[in-house]
Amino acid sequence: MGLHDWFQRGWTVTRNFPIAGHIRALAYELRPYLRAYIVEDDLTGTPYSFEARNLVHARARGITDTHPFGTERDVETADYHWVSHSISPCDTPDTDPRIVVGNSQTKQPYSASILNISAMSFGALSANAVRALNLGAKLGRFYHDTGEGGLSQYHLENGGDIVWELGSGYFGARAKDGTFDPEQFRDKAAHDQVKMTEIKLSQGAKPGHGGLLPAAKVTSEIAAIRGVPAHQDCLSPRGHKAFSTPIEMMEFAAKMRDLSGGKPVGLKLCIGQPHEPFAMVKAMLETGIRPDFIVVDGGEGGTGAAPLELSDWVGMPLSEGLVLMRNALVGAGLKEEVRLAASGKVYSGMGLALNIAQGADWCNAARAFMLSIGCIQAQRCHLGTCPTGVTSQEPGRQRGLVPEVQGERAARFHRKTLAALADIVAGAGFAHPQELEPHHIMHRTGPEKAEPMDRIHTFLPKGILLDAPNDTIYADWWAAARADNFRPATDLASVRARVR
Ligand SMILES: Cc1cc2nc3c(=O)[nH]c(=O)nc-3n(C[C@H](O)[C@H](O)[C@H](O)COP(=O)(O)O)c2cc1C
Ligand code: SF4
Repeated sequence: MGLHDWFQRGWTVTRNFPIAGHIRALAYELRPYLRAYIVEDDLTGTPYSFEARNLVHARARGITDTHPFGTERDVETADYHWVSHSISPCDTPDTDPRIVVGNSQTKQPYSASILNISAMSFGALSANAVRALNLGAKLGRFYHDTGEGGLSQYHLENGGDIVWELGSGYFGARAKDGTFDPEQFRDKAAHDQVKMTEIKLSQGAKPGHGGLLPAAKVTSEIAAIRGVPAHQDCLSPRGHKAFSTPIEMMEFAAKMRDLSGGKPVGLKLCIGQPHEPFAMVKAMLETGIRPDFIVVDGGEGGTGAAPLELSDWVGMPLSEGLVLMRNALVGAGLKEEVRLAASGKVYSGMGLALNIAQGADWCNAARAFMLSIGCIQAQRCHLGTCPTGVTSQEPGRQRGLVPEVQGERAARFHRKTLAALADIVAGAGFAHPQELEPHHIMHRTGPEKAEPMDRIHTFLPKGILLDAPNDTIYADWWAAARADNFRPATDLASVRARVR
């Protein structure tokens, strides 16, 4: 081995210092584990801190999730936030709050839980993980989003409510040329378990990238479900072929709703250019079409695999994206007809409260549900070697994940998280989380100052974009947004000059 090291040409350190080179390689390999289990303190691990992972695991397993001795957070630092409770708490909070999704254009409205499983495809997830999550959804009466990888038999085995997501690859309703196939869509969307459908425009971890399932994970079975060649990288295009303007997007949504027999249809996106939410609402106003819901995904959201630059630096974080979409809908007087959901690192009652106070009707979680069924944040999801079987297609690795056991855990995590939300809501004096308002959340901006959330973000009053858009901070974006084109109407700098 020494001779091999000495003469090999690929590794600089090993070529000069074979022994030190191997020690370094071993330390490099073990680094994530040493950091996670030995070095990291309770609040610092990423993407999920030890405290967050522990909370999800404890709730999922039904062991004690209470915390002794007081908070470990530094309540004096910027970014700390808290809920303003009331001297007069509510004695009877709703412990299973639900929200009806569907408007006057919908024939089969759906009563959704306030916490659901966010989109993750079979392919990115193993068969056993999909089975477990769907069983959890069935036991806990919440929904399970298929992700863009198609509707598989594993989604249907346990009878949990399904939201069928279609991305730009139209997997599961895909014609041979890669375009949308209405017949296939109609047949599958008619399934009783499919409660709603969803058009994926983008996700926070990799906006504008489409989907990538690495070749190692494209087994023959996955390829058959998706309608693509096996053992090759499976790439969803960056954009949709079924529409190219906001108006066409609304028309496509209406077509999906019709084809599904009037089930609610939604859009999922991570917000990028700020005029785009306004272009979407202008298209709703112009066509009269109201999608039933919009899911805003934060730039902090998860993925099976994505380029680091996109995960780190592209896409609006959830708080800003959610408020912007909320303002577009409320400002255009559409919020009652179009529900709003949020996803991005939600794992606790506080995450739910924070997003709902800022305008979300419900939240979705992806990685927290992965943690609930056994994920240990080893971060090997893209390699096909997940040690817990959550994201590996290898039967030997999936063996560790017993769907009947882990499905119950997903349901328990859901139930206990809603109970924690009910504690927060009751403490603030309310029965239903929808009663939370932005000013119930206080946000520390520095060591000496904290402000209610409605002074951190702007929250528009109903209809103001129709009556007096120039009185809002969004005047230039509103003016630039077009119903017939995703591009802004004109150079934004000149729009700003005109309206200010
Ligand atoms: C393994 C994995 C696979 C995902 N696959 C999809 C997908 O197919 N479609 C989609 O819209 N989002 C997908 N996402 C993003 C999630 O649905 C969600 O929007 C994002 O992870 C934010 O939620 P989280 O922070 O609770 O994980 C995936 C996320 C993960 C972790
Ligand atoms: S255990 Fe690791 S590899 Fe498996 S799903 Fe969780 S983070 Fe991904």
